[in-house]
Amino acid sequence: MKLFLDTANTAQVAEIAAWGVLDGVTTNPSLVAKEGGDFKKTVLTMCKLVPNVSAQVTATTFEEMKKQAVEMSGWHKRVVVKVPMTVEGLKTLHYCRGKGIRTNTTLVFSVNQAILAAKAGANIISPFIGRLDDIGQDGMELIAEIMQAWSHYDFQTEVLVASTRHPRHIADAAMLGAHICTVPYDVFKKLPLHSLTDIGLQKFLKDWESVKKK
Ligand code: E4P
Repeated sequence: MKLFLDTANTAQVAEIAAWGVLDGVTTNPSLVAKEGGDFKKTVLTMCKLVPNVSAQVTATTFEEMKKQAVEMSGWHKRVVVKVPMTVEGLKTLHYCRGKGIRTNTTLVFSVNQAILAAKAGANIISPFIGRLDDIGQDGMELIAEIMQAWSHYDFQTEVLVASTRHPRHIADAAMLGAHICTVPYDVFKKLPLHSLTDIGLQKFLKDWESVKKK
């Protein structure tokens, strides 16, 4: 499973990329607003660090989204254009597929939306599981349903588990065979940790000290 960092903070991307485990970054307008700065510059800095950087269009009509998709994809070959799951977005996905522009469909909340985005030509679909959990639905159940649907067909579209909230989401996504999981920085930092690893290491080091004394 590929691991992406869900952030618009370039220092966070540099830090996690140095671990050797990072396959990409997902940004969105809210994350960009939180960090401030020049969006194109941010994206270009990230493109030096990871092979995939999702940059979201902010227009809502096909004509305007198309223009933004062409512009953003021209910034760097590692840019993946993020397009919202709307009818205008579907037209944009179809257009981008024809032009060889890589796309990621954002704000997917149902199997039917996932199928439509895949058929329109999306390279990636992003079901938001945390936001479903927030309204009392089981977000991971949607991933299970999409992966089950995918098992019957030959969709080349990768399923990216988005809106993750805690480490268990990443493990569950992997066990369901999701292709990609995007993870917020604070959750990513928890992934290498286990109390038994810390306790075990302390004991090894302590025992080694006694060997050195002999
Ligand atoms: C994915 O690409 C989105 O940026 C992200 O996962 C949204 O997460 P949120 O629901 O925590 O805002």
